Amino acid sequence: MRILKKLAVWAFFSGSIFVFCFGTLDLRGGLNLLQIHQNSALMATASGKNLRSERMNHEAKNFDHLIGKVKGLSEKQLKAHFGLYQGYVKKANEIEQKLATADRATANYSFGEVSELMRRLAVAFNGAYLHQYYFENLTGEASQPSGDLKQMIEKNFGSMEKWTADVKAGLTSAPGWVLLVRSRRDGALRNILIEEHHRGLLVDQDIILAMDGWEHAYMIDYGTAKPDYSNTLLAAIDWKVAGQRLEQSLKSK
Ligand SMILES: [Fe+2]
Repeated sequence: MRILKKLAVWAFFSGSIFVFCFGTLDLRGGLNLLQIHQNSALMATASGKNLRSERMNHEAKNFDHLIGKVKGLSEKQLKAHFGLYQGYVKKANEIEQKLATADRATANYSFGEVSELMRRLAVAFNGAYLHQYYFENLTGEASQPSGDLKQMIEKNFGSMEKWTADVKAGLTSAPGWVLLVRSRRDGALRNILIEEHHRGLLVDQDIILAMDGWEHAYMIDYGTAKPDYSNTLLAAIDWKVAGQRLEQSLKSK
């Protein structure tokens, strides 16, 4: 009986020492095993930052507040667009779920289930998040760029008028997106044209504005009169949101 008692005391103190050791590692910035058990979505790194360790489930945001507010975009047009956005979010989740278990042995340049899933992930993923950027940078209240953003547009494009002409040229050039981006390489602003949702995307860019030039964004209200939609879009840009995105980008580098 005394031996059993001694063993129980030894087990208790051993366990405490184990917990204490890993707790100490955590305080020193090492692997936080206790936290991983508490919240598997977060992992503490050597730098002390918490990073997501699991892929998140994509969720569509609600943008109903734009209905009736954005001049030139009808309720029917916006609701149809919201539905497409939700579809991309759904597909991004579906593709990632299927990729988790797809047989890598089926990979093939011409056709293979895993290959198709890999090829189409960027379409659904970017389709979801570019729409989120787009709806977030729409407003019913007219605004103008100011501060750093205004200065940088003038410096990189020559003037606001030249920037506007550049956006219109992009929107006319192909179905897809025109993004105003800031490069983390040279710090410059550029308008870039994205065909489909992923072709033409440059590396190391922060998105300042997303402008949807797909037919589905305007056909209900404008038919084939894309230049009229371009004018509506440019007048509905929320420059305050764009300014905040630039500020965030400037802070990152
Ligand atoms: Fe769209």
